Amino acid sequence: MSERSCLAIVLAAGEGTRMRSARPKVLHEVGGRSLLAHVLAAVRAAGSSSTAVVIGPDAEAVAAEAKRVVPDAGIFVQSERRGTAHAMLAAGPAIARGFDDILVIYGDTPLIRPETLSRMRAALAKGAALAVLGFRPRNPAGYGRLLLDGGDLVAIREEVEASAAERAITLCNGGLMAFAGADALAILQQIGSHNRKGEFYLTDAVAIVRAMKLKAVVIETEEDDVRGINTKTQLAETEAVLQQRLRQAAMDAGVTLIAPETVFLSADTKFGRDVVVEPFVVFGPGVTVDDNAVIHSFCHFIHSYIGKGASVGPFARLRPGAQLGENVHIGNFVEIKASVIEAGAKANHLAYIGDTRLGAGSNFGAGAIVCNYDGEAKHRTDIGKRAFIGSNSSLVAPVKIGDGAYIATGSVITQDVPPDGLAIARERQVVKENRASRLRALKGAGKKKAAE
Ligand code: UD1
Ligand code: CA
Repeated sequence: MSERSCLAIVLAAGEGTRMRSARPKVLHEVGGRSLLAHVLAAVRAAGSSSTAVVIGPDAEAVAAEAKRVVPDAGIFVQSERRGTAHAMLAAGPAIARGFDDILVIYGDTPLIRPETLSRMRAALAKGAALAVLGFRPRNPAGYGRLLLDGGDLVAIREEVEASAAERAITLCNGGLMAFAGADALAILQQIGSHNRKGEFYLTDAVAIVRAMKLKAVVIETEEDDVRGINTKTQLAETEAVLQQRLRQAAMDAGVTLIAPETVFLSADTKFGRDVVVEPFVVFGPGVTVDDNAVIHSFCHFIHSYIGKGASVGPFARLRPGAQLGENVHIGNFVEIKASVIEAGAKANHLAYIGDTRLGAGSNFGAGAIVCNYDGEAKHRTDIGKRAFIGSNSSLVAPVKIGDGAYIATGSVITQDVPPDGLAIARERQVVKENRASRLRALKGAGKKKAAE
């Protein structure tokens, strides 16, 4: 089957007003990735070699997302919303280039699995001119019904056109179709708009295929595969299903999730071997966790790398560009951004590390921070190997701390410290003996006076 060429046409010209959002529907996200990107990934994984995305007018953001994910995707504009067949025909120039298989898929069905698309393509390879994805929804309201004669698919009836008997049919149209490329344009050109909505229904393709004495078949799948999103509630329901799948896949690959239902993953989260994740951790997009790392509870990560054997959290935040080397320890209330923490380095309590290199084996003390932002620009801090940054120090960037240097607790470091240097940058302590009681007496007298 893989030698058959395949064009995927993604219909994404829906206006999506029920999302109550300024953002186009297909740019909403589940699993840290846009709905459109999920669909594009699925059609690629099912072996499509070309991709066409049909967008509405003024949908540059949708086109940009399509191009980001699939740089050679063809973008076609459906300037008026006149039905699903009309939308598919907008990609007519792509169809005319000639493909064995053509997959038509909606941009708002992110849970479609590549294996389901492959089953549809397999039906074409066996001689069908059209394969329709069917499913049995818990609530069939609103879906087109699949009319069968014996085992053969004879027509799809849109709910608004259906008789009471047809509405009782539970097998519904999931909306995904696979066309034999050689017949697709001939089929599409025969679709008319003589129906209640006055739209060009893609679903009419079935009856046309039958009239052309070609074969139309149903491929049945589970509801989750074709879950379409029209509302924020459906977005959340879809997220929940996706999270279940991602957690399951992580556990199947050997990750220990102590309370999987409390861990949120992204579609691109990557785990090595023998990783342990404690309850309540959020993995935003772009996170890789390497072998034997332990993630303690209540952490939040985005675009970060966690090295082998590292220990992170509880309550740690890794922002974009945090790179933790082997056996690094990051403890509670530590935030790291755009920084390389080299092997064996530690920041165990209450720290901010941004735009920094923390050298191998160094210790970044409790309450220490880098001051990387001067109100105008960001600056870098470079800390060598085996350095010691005393608690509650402030490193004012740009600044360099050499290998093995030692920063005394509470220092405000504004100048470079050479390797092996000891820097003390704080007020010297003053002790006045037997003065505490006098001080209290003075304060007491003051209070008494104020009360009079
Ligand atoms: C469609 C199917 C129905 C099926 C259901 C599954 C048709 C006529 N009906 O109905 O049988 O059960 O999906 O969810 O195909 N679109 C465009 N341009 C248009 C019209 C639609 O791009 O002119 C896109 C939409 O953005 C959407 C998709 O096509 O992603 C489906 O359109 P929609 O109007 O939601 O079809 P349904 O009525 O849900
Ligand atoms: Ca729909």
